[in-house]
Amino acid sequence: MKPKKILIVDDDEAHRMMLKANLSKEGYQLSEAGDGLSAVQAVREDFFDLILMDIRMPQKSGIEALKEIKEISPSIPVLLITAYAELQTAIEAVKLGAEDYIQKPIDAEKLKVTVANLLTLNALKQENELLKERLGRTFSPSEIIGKSPKMQELYRNVAMIAPTDATVLIQGESGTGKELIADLIHQNSGRTDGAFVKVNCTVLPDTLLESELFGYERGAFTGAYQRKQGRFELADGGSIFLDEIGDMNPSVQAKLLRVLQEQKFERLGGTKTITVDVRIIAATNKDLEAEVKEGNFRDDLFYRLNVVPITVPPLRERKEDIPLLAEHFLKYYAEKNHRPVKGLLPRTLDLLMRYDWPGNVRELENAMERAVIIARAEQLTPADLPLNIQALADDLQTLETGVIPGRTIKEVERDLIIKTLEQTGGNRTHAAKTLGITRKTLQNKLKEYQID
Ligand SMILES: Nc1ncnc2c1ncn2[C@@H]1O[C@H](COP(=O)(O)OP(=O)(O)OP(=O)(O)O)[C@@H](O)[C@H]1O
Ligand SMILES: [Mg+2]
Repeated sequence: MKPKKILIVDDDEAHRMMLKANLSKEGYQLSEAGDGLSAVQAVREDFFDLILMDIRMPQKSGIEALKEIKEISPSIPVLLITAYAELQTAIEAVKLGAEDYIQKPIDAEKLKVTVANLLTLNALKQENELLKERLGRTFSPSEIIGKSPKMQELYRNVAMIAPTDATVLIQGESGTGKELIADLIHQNSGRTDGAFVKVNCTVLPDTLLESELFGYERGAFTGAYQRKQGRFELADGGSIFLDEIGDMNPSVQAKLLRVLQEQKFERLGGTKTITVDVRIIAATNKDLEAEVKEGNFRDDLFYRLNVVPITVPPLRERKEDIPLLAEHFLKYYAEKNHRPVKGLLPRTLDLLMRYDWPGNVRELENAMERAVIIARAEQLTPADLPLNIQALADDLQTLETGVIPGRTIKEVERDLIIKTLEQTGGNRTHAAKTLGITRKTLQNKLKEYQID
């Protein structure tokens, strides 16, 4: 990752050196300015991720510089340094758009944490901006592939529910496209000016999930040096996507229930009640009703979430979508990897249709990506598919595999070697015997064809 660029502004050179010494250990790229005027100049000429600035300086105070900097570049976080006596000014500065202030004498640990938090928060904001932009620009329903009756029914339900503020619970097996459907719902809601914030409830440990969602006050727990907004606050006016909600622990479930009922919560360690306007879209690949029966998921929360249930059907129940999806991924990955692959042989497609796809669309996508990369011809052959799918071919087809006029002898030889090795479970001596060549010749060919 690129090192973050920080501009240190202070008229006291010794103080500047001290700040520099503290921050350089953290791997940041540091620049300096000796007064407000040169700070503003620097911001005009260069891009910074954060500005650390003393308030009292000659040639434009920190406050004046702050105003100008925020005009030039509103999204750069500014952290001000104040003496105790200037606290009132510092509070004023926060109103003017400074992200935070830190008091002298500066505590090295606190400086480090405050800077790191501001940088993270800002990166998150920018990520959200980007996401919004990307969704706004490139999203079109045509990116969701599938014309089967089951998918058409799904589109109809989505079209009905998307423009409302109703809570949506998207259920479906892993890899069926639940996240794509969530995107589609937000994109067709009246909330596209707001953020679409995504949280995966599985990847975060319990306590972290709670503080991520609801934020915390300074001092809420060890390490909470500064107040932090949660994802619900960031999603205000927009939507939040709670992915894998079946993995949410009971205390977070209770808090979420209250948000659903009253749109209200408190930050961790806080007493102030925060009200937000957020639309909740949740997804799970678990059977939530069963989780409720087993006591793992609150029934009251389940009923609140399940206002509009949307189920994404597994791929095996809409096999007529397989050719469309396969073509779509083939084109996409051929272009992405600069491979001259153009289509699939009928026999290859036949195998895709026979397979049951327990990993659903994601598994098909992965299979097509791999096939496009290893393919040696313009049309994908069964040999380009994963072994468990090839295994569905009957013996005759297996024998024929790859022997198609229009391919070079080398290509066919390569396929034959791979197939034979598969048959012998990777045993080279055995494979060489079957192929009628010496083990040494086989070694050479493996090297030549880059087979491992
Ligand atoms: N109908 C579709 N058209 C095009 N691509 C799809 C479709 N459905 C799924 N995909 C692609 O398949 C992959 C898996 O989709 P997604 O992440 O939405 O699944 P999921 O249901 O959220 O899976 P999981 O439960 O494992 O999180 C993604 O790369 C997605 O772009
Ligand atoms: Mg998902």
